[in-house]
Amino acid sequence: MFELSEELTMVRDAAREFAERELKPRATKHDRQEHLDAEVLKLIGELGFWGLTVSEEYGGSGLGNLALSIVLEELNRGCGATGVTVSVHNSLLCSPLMKYGNAEQKKRFLPKLASGEWIGAYCLTEPGSGSDAAALSTRAVKDGDHYVLDGTKIWVTSGSMAGLALVYARTNPDVPKAKGISAFLVETSTPGCIVGKKELKCGIRGSPAVELQFDKCRVPAANMVGALDKGFPIAMDTLDGGRIGIAAQSVGIGQACLEEAISYAKVRVQFGKPIAHFQAIQHKIADMQTRLSASRMLVQKAAWLRDRGEPCGRQAAEAKLFASQTANFCADECLQIHGGAGYTDHFIAERLFRDARITEIYEGATDIQRLVIARSVIG
Ligand code: CAA
Repeated sequence: MFELSEELTMVRDAAREFAERELKPRATKHDRQEHLDAEVLKLIGELGFWGLTVSEEYGGSGLGNLALSIVLEELNRGCGATGVTVSVHNSLLCSPLMKYGNAEQKKRFLPKLASGEWIGAYCLTEPGSGSDAAALSTRAVKDGDHYVLDGTKIWVTSGSMAGLALVYARTNPDVPKAKGISAFLVETSTPGCIVGKKELKCGIRGSPAVELQFDKCRVPAANMVGALDKGFPIAMDTLDGGRIGIAAQSVGIGQACLEEAISYAKVRVQFGKPIAHFQAIQHKIADMQTRLSASRMLVQKAAWLRDRGEPCGRQAAEAKLFASQTANFCADECLQIHGGAGYTDHFIAERLFRDARITEIYEGATDIQRLVIARSVIG
């Protein structure tokens, strides 16, 4: 893919303009106040970015994963905390609901998600199950026409502001661990769904990550997504899409690092000239630029495959592995080019350095991406 269509170019330009005008000036504020401005959430809705993976029938634009990845790069260039909120909402909740939800579930939930009236969350990780996601222990026990959920989820992005969460729980403890898990749509206003501890994170602090507790939480059986005990493959397939989103976030953060590094190198004078004139700095800039170009292509190829309904687990993992490492490489070089000033809050290099770090961890750590890629190519 070497040229965006006219439609995607317009979408990219709208996202870029929004990020420049509304996100960049607010990103440090979001970081310090540890939440996003309500105004930003509203404006994202006006642009239609909550419904990029929701079909028009349910109030979205249906533009899909390639459009989402392009939008996410731009939003994250402005503010990583805003970017991950849009990524999780679209790729970890709207997408699986579109793909695996029944007509009734789609009708009930998607319009609210597409408009941004409800922000979406994804509940997989638990204190005892991170990389080994299938080891989760939250239970869902049938009681009449409800399931009763008990357990604790952690690292729930947007958990404290979400209206709806996709929750994975064990419905059959007597079969191999990945075989007895089901997926449930849980309205966060349901009694027994309790927001617990909020983490004080190293970066993307404007995006709240909280614990969600389920204490005898009664969820209608009609809210089960897909078939009984068949939830784990849904969780994994959904993460393939989510990983493309985080890879796009990585490109956006890396791009911001590159731009900040260039701006600073052009004005910082040492040894009688701007440091951009020194080959040592130029080589850093060249490496950042090249790795970002390669990352962007990996991201867009994986998103394009996903839009075509083709398997893309390996490509998504490759994109996330390479792009997240690139984001951290760019953040490190950006800070280094700023010298001591970059280690302070006088420049955004310091926040970008913190924001980049998580891209190698959430939605499957770097070594999990390697595992997925190796399993795919070795068999
Ligand atoms: N698509 C569809 N199905 C898939 C799949 C995929 N990509 N990958 C695996 N499956 C299916 C398998 O086919 C298998 O199904 P069957 O039993 O029917 O054959 C089942 O899922 C189990 O697969 P595995 O045997 O491969 O499972 P595993 O236990 O070995 O785990 C793993 C594999 C890749 C390590 C997986 O556990 C994993 O991805 N771990 C990382 C978890 C992760 O990314 N967590 C992030 C949570 S979200 C977050 O970060 C917070 C946030 O809000 C941003």
